[in-house]
Amino acid sequence: MDQRTDAASPALPARMTAWKQHRYGGPEAVAAETVPVPAPGRGEVLLAVRAVSLNSADVHLMRGDPLFVRLMFGLRQPKNAVRGMDVAGTVVAVGDAVTGFTIGDEVVGELPGGGLAPYAIAPVARLVSRPAGVDAIAAACLPIAAGTAHQALAAAAAPEGGRILVIGASGGVGTFAVQLAVDRGLEVWALTGARSVELVTGLGATRVFDYRSVQPGASDLPADSFDAVIDIAGTAPLRALQRLVRGGGKVVLVAGEGGRVLGPVGRMLRAAVLSIGSRRGIRPLAATAKPAMLTELLSLVAAARISPVIERTFPLSDALAALEHVDEGHTVGKVVVVA
Ligand SMILES: NC(=O)c1ccc[n+]([C@@H]2O[C@H](COP(=O)([O-])OP(=O)(O)OC[C@H]3O[C@@H](n4cnc5c(N)ncnc54)[C@H](OP(=O)(O)O)[C@@H]3O)[C@@H](O)[C@H]2O)c1
Repeated sequence: MDQRTDAASPALPARMTAWKQHRYGGPEAVAAETVPVPAPGRGEVLLAVRAVSLNSADVHLMRGDPLFVRLMFGLRQPKNAVRGMDVAGTVVAVGDAVTGFTIGDEVVGELPGGGLAPYAIAPVARLVSRPAGVDAIAAACLPIAAGTAHQALAAAAAPEGGRILVIGASGGVGTFAVQLAVDRGLEVWALTGARSVELVTGLGATRVFDYRSVQPGASDLPADSFDAVIDIAGTAPLRALQRLVRGGGKVVLVAGEGGRVLGPVGRMLRAAVLSIGSRRGIRPLAATAKPAMLTELLSLVAAARISPVIERTFPLSDALAALEHVDEGHTVGKVVVVA
């Protein structure tokens, strides 16, 4: 490995304290550990981490839940032992064959993991520049949550001026879905927890209901009323979701409850069956990292057209408490760990 640093780069320490796990499990499986500062390989840079936003994907990976994710991410323990995928940081060392980024650049991206540490390795293909008008905390909120919301809206393909229902509007993905939909000129109805009704209304939703008292099928949500439904909660019966959309409309499944082994896979298969020959298709979404989309999202934040909702920040020294909080499943907007 030929790691480049230069005079502009501060001397890097040899060791750091990272939050690591050596087995799948709840937050109790994660502990602070002193490890060598990693060196970037080909096509990678080393970031001094500034901010990491946590997502429910981080806690699913932490727990290896559902079990089938372990086929991809490590059978007995996670291949990448450090959680935290959405990272904003400063480039402090550059590996071989890296173009487009240099030491001192402020960047953000969805990484394979590793953010809950003072330094993290980042494949440059995952990174974009962070504009000066967007601070590191706001930027770190965007990759997975806003990226998923953006991809869900694209899949929903609601016509301009159309009406959509966002189910699960108060979480990381949901708060961005509402704002991005409003920014596109859509009328947004939302289901959210009671304590978040005011917040989601403030994000621009026209009608907001407490999901514990209003569910798909209730009279407040009439059949054939929406051009699209974006389901980020994953608990409502698929037929009830399908009835909400007009002919030609779509249900987009961002989340889905399911069994311990296959998770949402069964729900996705039922969605495929229910969509056969139907004018109300149900589309499971598998969002992926899209750097060009992240650049677009950063510009929307810079222009104050969307703004991350940040429930809480935690210092890196308290990252375990941040993981515990997200693991409880009641995050409002985003939780960010600040290095
Ligand atoms: N398909 C994909 O590619 C993809 C990508 C990213 C995320 N996801 C999935 O999307 C889901 C949301 O992720 P996230 O990071 O946004 O989660 P999150 O921030 O942890 O969401 C928590 C929020 O959801 C609300 N909520 C919980 N159950 C609800 C229900 N039945 N109806 C309405 N709101 C409900 C909670 O409100 P209360 O506290 O009031 O209960 C809380 O505010 C997760 O299941 C995640 O795995 C999928």
